[in-house]
Amino acid sequence: MTQYSSRVTAALSAVDEDTYTLNPDGSLVTQTTARPLIASTLDGLNVQPGAKVLEIGTGSGYSSALLSELVGPSGTVVTVDVVPDLIERARTLHAQAGRTNVILVAADGHHGAPDHAPFDRVVAWTTPETIPHAWVEQSRPSCLVVAPVELAGLVKSHAVVTAEVTGDQNLTGRALAPGGYVEMHGADLDQWTVPPRGVDALVHDGQGAAWWIASSWAKKHPAEAGKLLTGLVDEQPQTVRVFEDGEDPTAFRAWMYATHPDELATLGGPMGFGVGAADSAGVFVFRPFGPDALSNGAMTTETVARGWVETWRSAGRPGWASVRPVLLRESTGWRVRAEENQPVRS
Ligand SMILES: C[S@@+](CC[C@H](N)C(=O)[O-])C[C@H]1O[C@@H](n2cnc3c(N)ncnc32)[C@H](O)[C@@H]1O
Repeated sequence: MTQYSSRVTAALSAVDEDTYTLNPDGSLVTQTTARPLIASTLDGLNVQPGAKVLEIGTGSGYSSALLSELVGPSGTVVTVDVVPDLIERARTLHAQAGRTNVILVAADGHHGAPDHAPFDRVVAWTTPETIPHAWVEQSRPSCLVVAPVELAGLVKSHAVVTAEVTGDQNLTGRALAPGGYVEMHGADLDQWTVPPRGVDALVHDGQGAAWWIASSWAKKHPAEAGKLLTGLVDEQPQTVRVFEDGEDPTAFRAWMYATHPDELATLGGPMGFGVGAADSAGVFVFRPFGPDALSNGAMTTETVARGWVETWRSAGRPGWASVRPVLLRESTGWRVRAEENQPVRS
């Protein structure tokens, strides 16, 4: 069993998860984060009693209940969700539990919560394209920001970054870890199969299921990318095994994001999504979990993608501890890229 810090363990024991994550009929609230992921993230966030925490993505309210325990009676949790109904549901549950140190805000989290700043910690459970400047501007020096990011500037090239706000409102990367959350969206999102941004070509099959692709190649050649998708609908990509027993596919992803960020593509469809190689002839994309890839058998992409795996193996199968986050200031926010600690020729 995973061991968490004693404070996070105590918070997990103090909050009844089902109260927050289950609907009255016993079904799971869609906007719920898995407990182990919340717990490990809160461990890394290192929240002290008395702290003021900004949370983006209230969802079920479970993580804000845990944060409420961690900050204690002298601290405050300000939790923001773009879906007003979720905020009202969480407000009721927190009130019933007597949690008076949680402030709930129905708004677009890109803007943070300016009326309640400054914050000692910022945590997000939904993926911004870049870390908004507002989160940094509303933070105290030394504030830790833990947020899901798109490492390769590509939708679903997921990781979780820990960064620190430095005195001059800069953001410095501290660590990267595996993990991913749904993209930040507007209040009116009515489907979950196509990401709300970053998709370069999209087709629907005969059953109405969406197939989509994102990559710098598809952005430049959307018509060709659409043709590729139509071909995939007809041929249906096959699941092929890539990784051997004992290999960690998520470690490979860390290395892939650091070494080939600009060559990557994300393919999504009724079978889920994968990130890897794509060109006009085909795709070879690694599934987010497990040892498999999706392929339509095109030699070009299979050779490229399997070549990456061989180089990763020759480099000793480096993983998340072998890459570091590099934060780049852009007009919309801080873009996060991965860089190898000790570059390996790829
Ligand atoms: C994975 S859920 C959060 C789960 C939550 N941490 C829990 O403990 O259940 C992600 C949440 O982010 C919210 N979200 C998405 N886009 C947002 C935005 N632009 N601003 C604020 N919240 C947003 C969604 O409505 C959803 O509730």
